[in-house]
Amino acid sequence: MMYNSRIAGLGKYVPENIVTNDDLAKLMDTNDAWIQERTGIKERRHILKGDGNTTASMGVKAAEIAIERAGMTPKDIDMIVFATLSPDFYFPGCGVQVQHLMGMETVPALDVRNQCSGFIYALATADQFIKTGMYKNVLVIGAENHSGGLDFTDRGRSVSVIFGDGAGAAVLTREEDTSKGILSSHLHSQGEHAKELSLEGPSTNRWVPEIIAENPQENIPYYPYMNGQFVFKNAVVRFSEVIKEGLAKNNLQTEDIDMLIPHQANLRISQFVQRQFGLSDDKIFNNIQKYGNTTAASIPIALTEAWENGKIKEGDTVVLAAFGSGFTWASSIIKW
Ligand code: ACO
Repeated sequence: MMYNSRIAGLGKYVPENIVTNDDLAKLMDTNDAWIQERTGIKERRHILKGDGNTTASMGVKAAEIAIERAGMTPKDIDMIVFATLSPDFYFPGCGVQVQHLMGMETVPALDVRNQCSGFIYALATADQFIKTGMYKNVLVIGAENHSGGLDFTDRGRSVSVIFGDGAGAAVLTREEDTSKGILSSHLHSQGEHAKELSLEGPSTNRWVPEIIAENPQENIPYYPYMNGQFVFKNAVVRFSEVIKEGLAKNNLQTEDIDMLIPHQANLRISQFVQRQFGLSDDKIFNNIQKYGNTTAASIPIALTEAWENGKIKEGDTVVLAAFGSGFTWASSIIKW
């Protein structure tokens, strides 16, 4: 017998420290009007050095809320899947830290490295373990600490203004009614464009001694690089494709979408997708204005807020969709 999985609890955590566009304009040649016009972002959260937040600890804070809302305790969790591009250690991943910090028994912990698509990949992975009956409750986390690794000089301005820190979590649980929960997941990648949105070093490609030896004032592989316009053009095409793929698989029409939660990459991308599908404002949820792009955390933070605001009800068809570095893109069709 194959089961379905459904989201039993959601949680989010963002650091208290708010960084406005005006705050960034003190560090680099940028301004509130440019950032709002191009991205829709008004402010984002950044970890403050010494505030105790890490990628894993923010994940734990989001997870505690999700587990409580699911009516569970950490002891009920059979597996952890953690999505991030900014782990606290190069290795091991954040999943094992969560296992330890939450005092769980020796449950398996798996890290997913699919950037902005990370949460949907993680959700799909968890779903497979539940479908087969191997596990009953899987904790899925998306969390990022971007701020520590961004270039806040003029050189990095087209990337650094976009990203923020935070975490979101979902508890996925077994659902015996196969018309409910995650109906299908659709995952893709295209490594041909890996370098268009990437952070090259330190890595096995450019280990630390090599970077230091180069003394790279110009060549800066340790900061993220993004070919913004190329990413934008690919994003709008892939978002549309992967949403259509999910709808077709379930014999659904655009009108059947009750809520679309797109990865919060850029408000202009979300608005483009909204127009493509002719969705009214109440059928799409955006909160990039407050948090910036939190990569793997962006979908679970937005999903949690949409749910907290009563915008998702039982029986709704909820569509998650993401595009990002890899390139990777994905969607998930959920019957709430
Ligand atoms: N403030 C002021 N001016 C700026 C800034 C800034 N922060 N950044 C760039 N500019 C300037 C540029 O220097 C350029 O000036 P010029 O015309 O004199 O040369 C001008 O603004 C336009 O720059 P573009 O890079 O062409 O700006 P664009 O309109 O493409 O917007 C942006 C940039 C917001 C990054 C956009 O391309 C974008 O959102 N791309 C997609 C991002 C995305 O979806 N990422 C995927 C998810 S992230 C992940 O997976 C990790």
